[in-house]
Amino acid sequence: TEDALVIFTPSGKRGRFPLGTPVLTAARQLGVDLDSVCGGRGICSKCQITPSYGDFPKHGVTVADGALTEWNAVEERYKSKRGMIDGRRLGCQAKVMGDVVIDVPPESQVHKQVIRKSATQRDIVMDPATRLLYVEVAEPDMHEPTGDFERLAIALRDQWQVEDVVADLSLMRRLQPVLRKGEWKVTVALHKGNHDATPRILDLWPGFHEGGLYGLAIDLGSTTIAAHICDLKDGAVLASSGLMNPQIRFGEDLMSRVSYAMMNPGGDVEMTRAVREAINALAASIAAEAGVEATAIYEVVFVCNPVMHHLLLGIDPVELGQAPFALATSGSLSLDARDLDLTNLNRAARVYVLPCIAGHVGADAAAVALSEEPNKSKDMVLIVDVGTNAEILLGNETRVLACSSPTGPAFEGAQISSGQRAAPGAIERVEIDPATKEPRFRVIGSDIWSDDPGFAEATKQTGITGICGSGIIEAVAELRMAGLLDPGGLIGGPDQTGTPRCVPEGRTHSYLLHDGSAEGGPRIMVTQGDIRAIQLAKSALYAGARLLMDEMGVDKVDRVTLAGAFGAHISAKHAMVLGMIPDVPLDRVTSAGNAAGTGARIALCNVAARDQIEATVHQIHKVETAIEPKFQEHFVNANAIPHATDPFPELNA
Ligand code: FES
Repeated sequence: TEDALVIFTPSGKRGRFPLGTPVLTAARQLGVDLDSVCGGRGICSKCQITPSYGDFPKHGVTVADGALTEWNAVEERYKSKRGMIDGRRLGCQAKVMGDVVIDVPPESQVHKQVIRKSATQRDIVMDPATRLLYVEVAEPDMHEPTGDFERLAIALRDQWQVEDVVADLSLMRRLQPVLRKGEWKVTVALHKGNHDATPRILDLWPGFHEGGLYGLAIDLGSTTIAAHICDLKDGAVLASSGLMNPQIRFGEDLMSRVSYAMMNPGGDVEMTRAVREAINALAASIAAEAGVEATAIYEVVFVCNPVMHHLLLGIDPVELGQAPFALATSGSLSLDARDLDLTNLNRAARVYVLPCIAGHVGADAAAVALSEEPNKSKDMVLIVDVGTNAEILLGNETRVLACSSPTGPAFEGAQISSGQRAAPGAIERVEIDPATKEPRFRVIGSDIWSDDPGFAEATKQTGITGICGSGIIEAVAELRMAGLLDPGGLIGGPDQTGTPRCVPEGRTHSYLLHDGSAEGGPRIMVTQGDIRAIQLAKSALYAGARLLMDEMGVDKVDRVTLAGAFGAHISAKHAMVLGMIPDVPLDRVTSAGNAAGTGARIALCNVAARDQIEATVHQIHKVETAIEPKFQEHFVNANAIPHATDPFPELNA
């Protein structure tokens, strides 16, 4: 028999095939990524390709008319009903009749690359755990005693090479009417987790079904719960939303929640219930925002610190409150959402929880490692994920260390006299003129400075309500640079500083940043207590980083990446003036945005990434700050602004 050369672009894969081979078959044999839900039956149209004709000197072929079989009736029917771009063919219908060059457009690729939209988003290659498959099932027969499910399983094996599929009871209950309604043709939502997970049917529909499959990537923090809802077909983020963690009423930081569980019998159960209710509410609201049914959410990926991890799972976190900080389990988990009482999703939805690194270094740090890949860096990179707890990673391709440091919620605007969450109306940027000592600032929701004309108008809607985490960091750094604050962190009085903005309050002084009292708004002050709270938080952060540097045997790093929802907003200069991070050239400090959330999204969209992070966490060496005597010493020295002993030459540059 004669054969012909088939060249696929953009992959460049090529091979010779007997005349009459369908393009989809050729693609399969060459391992070309060409989608198909219906298995080549001309129903799904996922297999669209674009043949090219003419001379291709680069590939050494000439493609003549007639290189593919004629446009057929199946293609005609599809095109007239659903439309198709001119020049496109269905890969399962068009057969090879001569040498041909075939382009696979991005929408026909299963493993599409989701291109990042900004510098803080990473490209993700799609390889979702849940996908739709169309199958034709053998009808039952008096002489063949197998059940309908067993025949469905055989069809999946023969038509899709899916072995040993399982399903839960609720699916069994729906199976028979759906098979009969679809006349033995059905579409299943098939879930196959990473490594040796059992394939599982999550849902099924009569005939060919095209509905969307969605997933949630959830960063479950101590203070906030942030979620993205993603389309599992192309990774698109349809909506992002968050809410306060209702466990705050049991304790602001992690250790106070662990104590709550220790002191109150059943306290852990109460906290578990609260967080699960919040996640259900968030699932419903984010699905509504995205305009999809919450029942079309088939997967949830969680990243969280160890205490939140245990409370989500319904495990008493008491062991995490005392040395040696043993986790009940540090491995990744694949679960039924129902087992976590997450009922506002598809009833068969699956949950994947990223692995924890250690008792103090959780799945959130693992997610940051997945997103930022310090283990692939040539440079010695320091990654700090700033939240109520700071997750810190240091390393390069040879070795990665991790620790967690109890910064407390000051960086998030909590424990600050005029502090608030980053929301419209919050002061987020601050400058203080070193000569006049007068401030100017910007608030979230408007993009002009307070001394610009039109500022009053621009902030009429939001008002000026308080100061958020990035605002307080800038304010403290600016106070220091304007000479209003000494290296010990003491605010000077009006006599010393020459400005009436430094107002006495008891035995200390506060700096008046904004007086809105004339308009019925608040007086926003930076108090001595605020400075102390920031000093404690930044000392904890810096001491954690220094501890890792000691362990690594380095006295400087090549790069610093600030992660965390608010890492995106901290200015590198202000962070360094405060001594939050070690000395490094300012242009080597970058922001990664919410890297933990990105890590969750990667694990949601790419099942192989789950294997990758499970392998990586084993290579990350964790350092326990709580029992390291050096930590205290570093902490005390880091209390000064920027530091009592460590030099900061870049600040003078
Ligand atoms: Fe479904 Fe071609 S594979 S239409």
